Amino acid sequence: MNVPILDLQQQYAALKPELDAALLRVAESQVLALGPEVEAFEQEIADYLGVKHALGVSSGTDALLLALMALGVGPGDEVIVPTFSFFATAGVVSRLNAVPVFVDIDPVTFCMDPEQFRAKISDKTKAVMPVHLYGQVAAMREINAIAAEHGITVVEDAAQSIGAMYDDGRRAGALGKVAGFSFYPTKNLGAFGDAGLVTCDDDDLYYMLKIMRIHGGEQRYVHRVVGGNFRMDALQGAVLRIKLQHLDAWTDRVIELAGMYSQLIIKAGLAEEEGLTDFDANNRVLLPAAVHRDSGVRHFHVYHQYVLRVQQRDELIGFLRERSVGAGVYYPIPFHRQECFQDLPSSRDAYPVSDHAAEHVLALPIYPEMSEEQLRFVVDSIAAFYDRA
Ligand SMILES: Cc1ncc(COP(=O)(O)O)c(C=O)c1O
Repeated sequence: MNVPILDLQQQYAALKPELDAALLRVAESQVLALGPEVEAFEQEIADYLGVKHALGVSSGTDALLLALMALGVGPGDEVIVPTFSFFATAGVVSRLNAVPVFVDIDPVTFCMDPEQFRAKISDKTKAVMPVHLYGQVAAMREINAIAAEHGITVVEDAAQSIGAMYDDGRRAGALGKVAGFSFYPTKNLGAFGDAGLVTCDDDDLYYMLKIMRIHGGEQRYVHRVVGGNFRMDALQGAVLRIKLQHLDAWTDRVIELAGMYSQLIIKAGLAEEEGLTDFDANNRVLLPAAVHRDSGVRHFHVYHQYVLRVQQRDELIGFLRERSVGAGVYYPIPFHRQECFQDLPSSRDAYPVSDHAAEHVLALPIYPEMSEEQLRFVVDSIAAFYDRA
């Protein structure tokens, strides 16, 4: 049975008439960058997220870069980031000649450890960037409290967590001063190419974000500050408006699939419960934990990825590939081990939880159109691998 890690063809087939009409509408309008489709999307997604302002931009990377630029992050400023994330989280800091300062992650949530954040604060710390990794919100209450104590600005990297809710029912992207989202096609809400979003409640910050999205001026050819070209394509706005209407239903289904994965893996005798952090004879794989499940909120973890930790990972990936089952490793090398960051002081510190994650994480196929039969085949394949061993 073929089980790809993601199948966008099925999503497109289901929405084809609506999406094709939207594409045609944009083509016929010939308003191709920003414009009414993007403005309508910004309004709709701001309402969905529960934020005052949403600004459509060119990618998730640009969303984070623009957020830091609008906050005035620059040479010598330190920005605290988890060492275990997608490259953009730290890359945007370095691009502004600021210094990414790495911290380790929590072994259960894979998100920034708040106490490690506290330990890395210096008088140069300007911002902290928690990442809601794999679709689960970081410990924002603790992070916000520590940041407030020290006058540090909180920038959420919400690239992987559209729709995810914290235990108080507020959504990712509404929990810090400013947030960046990605709509890269593989994300839970994916565009037809690159696109991203910045959200905030603060009117002054929004003004800066808005002018810096187009080279820092209110009026064409009059530049108040130096910005960039971070415009969202009209096409992406039109596509995202349609997909946004389906997001909650997709998320419900993905949460259901994640629950099935965990149950079946436990039933197969490969793990005892979710959220354990050490391998032993009864836990040959470690299951992800949805820490806010008991809070009563609906989308406590939106499973952009369903991530196990496994032993003999390379062999298992090879075995799954032979059975046409996709699997991914996000991310094999933490920031403190990346060649480009070797000169940073914080690369010399130890990050045992991130190193352990980098060595063992394995993302399984998960997407709303996936069948239960496919999911069972993935679990049976993993069980077959370990039974053989
Ligand atoms: C955690 C995280 N941050 C930032 C980004 C950057 O988003 P984009 O790929 O849209 O530039 C991504 C996207 O993969 C991500 O996963």
